[in-house]
Parts: sequence; structure tokens; C-alpha cells
Amino acid sequence: MLIGVPKETFAGEKRVATVPDVVEKLVKLGFSVQVESGAGDAAHFADDTYRAAGATVVPDAHTIWGQSDIVFKVRPPAAEEVAQLREGAALVGFVWPAQNPNLMAQLQAKQATVLAIDCLPRQLSRAQKMDALTSQAGVSGYRAVVEAANAFGRFFNGQITAAGKVPPAKVFIAGAGVAGLAAIGTAANLGAIVRANDTRAEVADQVKSLGGEFVKVDYEEEGSGGGGYAKVMSEGFQAAQRAMYAQQAKECDIIITTALIPGKPAPKLITAEMVQSMRPGSVIVDMAAEQGGNCELTVPGEAVVRHGVTIVGYTDLASRLAKQSSTLYSTNLLRLTEELCKTKDGVIHVNFEDDAIRGLTVVKEGELTWPAPQPKLPPAPAAKPAAAAAPKAPAHGHGPGEPMSAKSLATVFGVGAVLFWLVGSFAPASFLSHFTVFVLACFVGYMVVWNVTPSLHTPLMSVTNAISSIIAIGALVQVAPPLDAVGAANRPNSLILGLALVALVLTAINMFGGFAVTRRMLAMFRK
Ligand code: NAI
Repeated sequence: MLIGVPKETFAGEKRVATVPDVVEKLVKLGFSVQVESGAGDAAHFADDTYRAAGATVVPDAHTIWGQSDIVFKVRPPAAEEVAQLREGAALVGFVWPAQNPNLMAQLQAKQATVLAIDCLPRQLSRAQKMDALTSQAGVSGYRAVVEAANAFGRFFNGQITAAGKVPPAKVFIAGAGVAGLAAIGTAANLGAIVRANDTRAEVADQVKSLGGEFVKVDYEEEGSGGGGYAKVMSEGFQAAQRAMYAQQAKECDIIITTALIPGKPAPKLITAEMVQSMRPGSVIVDMAAEQGGNCELTVPGEAVVRHGVTIVGYTDLASRLAKQSSTLYSTNLLRLTEELCKTKDGVIHVNFEDDAIRGLTVVKEGELTWPAPQPKLPPAPAAKPAAAAAPKAPAHGHGPGEPMSAKSLATVFGVGAVLFWLVGSFAPASFLSHFTVFVLACFVGYMVVWNVTPSLHTPLMSVTNAISSIIAIGALVQVAPPLDAVGAANRPNSLILGLALVALVLTAINMFGGFAVTRRMLAMFRK
């Protein structure tokens, strides 16, 4: 199939949906790729680098839209672009179906298949590699701090020099989601004192692990609205939160706001009075500007000065780091393409059995398939007491993290015992002892993995990666072979010895690296 990458037409958009490195991988998957000339220019990817990677560069967008079987985009396409789309072709990119009903109707009329990356069920761990919302929010969070540093007249870190003492900048982050956490990490790395607040109390540990201090609102209310997102808070909570934010505005030099609630206008957290109370030269970066802004005085798309405070309302923060954001975005699309083309034959299969693919398919061959049903998820760890009170789970099917029902457990045990007895009756004794250890190991492994909460699956994978380095044992046997019957060592030849030593070094990196990574990841979950 032919993948087409047109130049983004939205004013000021610098990103490109596919970078040359990814073109190479798409070609390996069996696809042909054609790119509009100049599509990557603003992100510093020249036409020649696309050609070198195996793409065809065509001079106009019309050819891309008219010929491609699949079009890769960043922003939702304009009506004129969809008009040129080949009938029955596929479109992959940000679509925002709820906000763009006309676009959806136009795509349906074209009998298109539309994969909206913004509709990916992000809560599925398997979907993380395709999560473009997260990759772009991470870049935006970083850039927000860079914009703040640019508008701020001082260092972020404290310094004592012969010319005088400089206090560290105080940065307050409102909303510690993906973008907020990226901003916390970046500001802390620059040496600022970082504080953060979020309505979802569970992010407090993540804030701490990135070097920030979590500031609580003095009001008890659960802030999670499901799926890892926030909800609209009560009047009482909002009043207490305003009082706390007013205090932070007086104390801090920089405020970065990222607070969003899906499907709702951005909550107004920073009032005009709070801006007035900030020291002259302070900076506010309002990352929610596109959704109405978290600050009353934000002008979307612009940086303005009000009461001596610079308020940055840029809505293109990810595009301002176009090379980085394009690279991450196109890697997300590559991972999606790999899922769509498991056979590596250059043909995509939109498989509705796959929850991640089902979630992001908003139109299939002209038929509206949005909104997708919620994917089946294991219960969140915090909801345990409620789950205990909930009605009995259905007898069939359960996901990782869910306990097995007594009936299925008894069936598994029964079948296992019968099989074991059958093997025991025919196999030799030596086989049976190894087989017993094998069966017990499988059972213990299964029970351990199944009972791990889904949020800990990533650290679990890294630790199993470390443990899988039992290759070291084989290498050790080669380096120090067992003594033979007369006591003399079986000297291996130097090639085997060399290879064994290399294997030992590599496996040691894998093993110790795996444990180190696991330790760092687990630290994020520790209270
Ligand atoms: P977002 O962009 O919708 O919201 C940003 C942040 O603002 C959220 O943390 C939200 O709690 C906070 N917020 C909303 N109203 C607020 C208020 N009035 N005051 C203070 N803070 C407020 O969310 P984003 O960053 O796209 O994702 C949020 C969370 O979703 C992530 O931190 C993560 O926990 C979860 N998520 C989970 C994934 C997974 O399970 N694999 C994948 C992606 C996100």
C-alpha cells in the first residue's frame, strides 16, 4: 500500500507526520511512501533525507491526497484536503471527532477509514507506544518551561557569586498530568523550586519523584473522573483551591497551568486579582489556552503583559519543538502501523477484536464507528473496597490483576492434577522430577504475574528482563568448565572463551541495567 505524507496546511504548524527514520521502517514493513516536497522543511527534515530513506518526493499535495492508500497527518485535514482524498482511502492523525462533525461527515462520504490517534484508549498499557497525546503533551510541557525561562528576567537556579546572591526561581504548576509532569521535571532540572497541585490526589507521588512538592488543597474531595482524567469539582473545593492558588501567586515567580477536563472548558484557576498580586516580571504560561485558558487574562496564541506579568498563551507549544515532536509523533504512527500490519506485507488490517485499534477507528469504510465502546479494563487499584461490594463478576473471562473465581481455579487445578497423573503413570522417574519443578515454576510465575496491578506491569517487564539474563550461567560454565573425571579442567578453545566473556559482559549490562531501571520505576510508586 502507498502511504502519503502531505505538508501540514494549518497556519504556523511546523510538524510533519513522518520523519525519514520512520520512512525507512515503513518501507521495511512493505509499504511505499510518498512525501510532499517541503513537508519536513519546518521541522528540519529536507526532501533529500526522505529520498535517502526510500520515499518518493512529489511536488504537490494533490498527488498525495489523490494517490495514497493511507494518508498520515498531524492536524485534522481541511475540507479542501478531504475533497482530494481518494475514495476508500485511510486517514491517520488527530481528528477530534466531537469537535469536527463536518469533517467526519465529509470523510464518511468519501467511504474513508479514519484512525483518530486522539481517540486511542490511553488507559490500555498496550496502547502506550501509540499514545501521541502523551508524546506531544510531554514536548509541550518542556517547551512551556523554556518559554517561561525566555520571558523571565532571572536564573532558575539559586547562585552565590562575587556579584551577589541570586535566589532560586519559584515555579508553581497547576495540573500534574502528562504536560504538567514534564514541566515539573524540566523546571526542577533547571534548579527552580517547584510546587504543583492537581485535583487527582494520586499524582502527588509522581510530582515528588520528579523533584517537585505537591501542594494540597485544604478540602477533602475525590478528584478522579475516571480513565485517569479529572472531573469538575464542587463549589466548596473550588473556593478552597482559589484561596491556595492566590497564596501561591503571591509567592511564586512563574506559574504554568495545564489543567483540563475532557469535554469541558478549561477550569479558570488564575483570576485577574491573582495576576495583579504577582511580582512584576513574573510569568504565567497557560497551556490550556486553546480550550479557553486557566487564567482569566490569557489571550490564546499570544504573549501579553498584564499588570507587569507576562502571560504566554501559545497554542502551538509542541510545534515550536517541531523536530522533536515530529520524531515522537511519527514513531507513535509507526507503532500503530506495526499493529495494523502484523504480517509485514505492506497491507493494513483494521482488526476490531483489538481494543486499541477499535478505540481509534472512528470511521470504517464510510461507516461511523465513533464513539467506540469502552475497552474492558481491570479494576483500578484505588477502587478495591467498592469492587468488593459490587455484584459478582461474570463467570467467564478475567484480566490481569483480577482474582480468578473459585470455580475456574478449581477447574484449572482439577485438569492440571489429571494431566500430571497421566504423565506420572508413563514417564520415567528422572523426567518426573524435572517436570514437577517445571509445573510448579509455571504455576508460581502465573500467580505472581496475574496478581500484579496493571500500573506495575512496566517495572515487572524490566525486572523479568533482568532475570532473563540466565544466559550468564551458560557463559560462566564456558569460562570455568567443570572438572572432568580425572580432575583436569576441560580447557575450552580461546574463541569459545572469548565469546563467553563477551556474553558475560553483555548479559551483566542487561541484568544490572534491568534492576537499576526497575528500581527507578518502583521509586515512582513509593509513598
Ligand atoms: P489532561 O490534559 O486532561 O489534564 C491535565 C491535568 O489537569 C490532569 O492531571 C488533571 O487531573 C488536571 N486538572 C483538571 N482540572 C483541574 C483543576 N481544577 N485543578 C487542578 N488540576 C486539574 O490530562 P492528561 O495529561 O492528558 O492525562 C491525565 C492523566 O491521565 C495522566 O496523568 C495519567 O495519569 C492518565 N493517563 C493514563 C494513561 C494510562 O493509563 N496509560 C495514559 C495517558 C494518561
